[in-house]
Amino acid sequence: MTAQVVVEKKKLEKPPLEIHYLGDRVLRSPAKRVAKVDQSIRQLVQEMLQTMYSADGIGLAAPQVGVNKQIIVIDCEPDNPEMKPLVLINPVIKRFGRALCDAQEGCLSIPGVYMDVSRPEEVEVAYKDENGRPQTLKADGLLSRAIQHEMDHLNGVMFVDRVENGLALTEELKKHGFSSQAVKPIK
Ligand code: CO
Repeated sequence: MTAQVVVEKKKLEKPPLEIHYLGDRVLRSPAKRVAKVDQSIRQLVQEMLQTMYSADGIGLAAPQVGVNKQIIVIDCEPDNPEMKPLVLINPVIKRFGRALCDAQEGCLSIPGVYMDVSRPEEVEVAYKDENGRPQTLKADGLLSRAIQHEMDHLNGVMFVDRVENGLALTEELKKHGFSSQAVKPIK
């Protein structure tokens, strides 16, 4: 038997989950694999989606709501009621495309901060859906970027760790009330 996760795409006055912000340790610990996709996981997925839509986001990873599990929700078309959101449980990147591209990113855990990040343009990912069924997906463009950004969260990595212009980043973070000491530059 399978159960659908159905969530209306709207802003709730009181979203079910609380989003944690840059500087919070919970964002820095690697998430654990989900052993079994059951009703409690689907309940969490539903609440993550409601929280994401309420915050005007297009992606949310479980560590951002203080849950140490490998779960991601993504919806690149939050204004399109026909478009089903994507739920990735225990996602694994199978292949990165060779070409890199730069684009601006933001994060619900670092509100107001937008910076360019370089990432592989294409990605192929294997995961389980909200019914525990194995799936694979090839993505490019915004979806590919969202998948990579959210999967970083599962490894305790924030997009600001990948920003190359450190001076501009420090300034941008400061402007929005964040400390650059919370950044852990990659490489
Ligand atoms: Co994020």
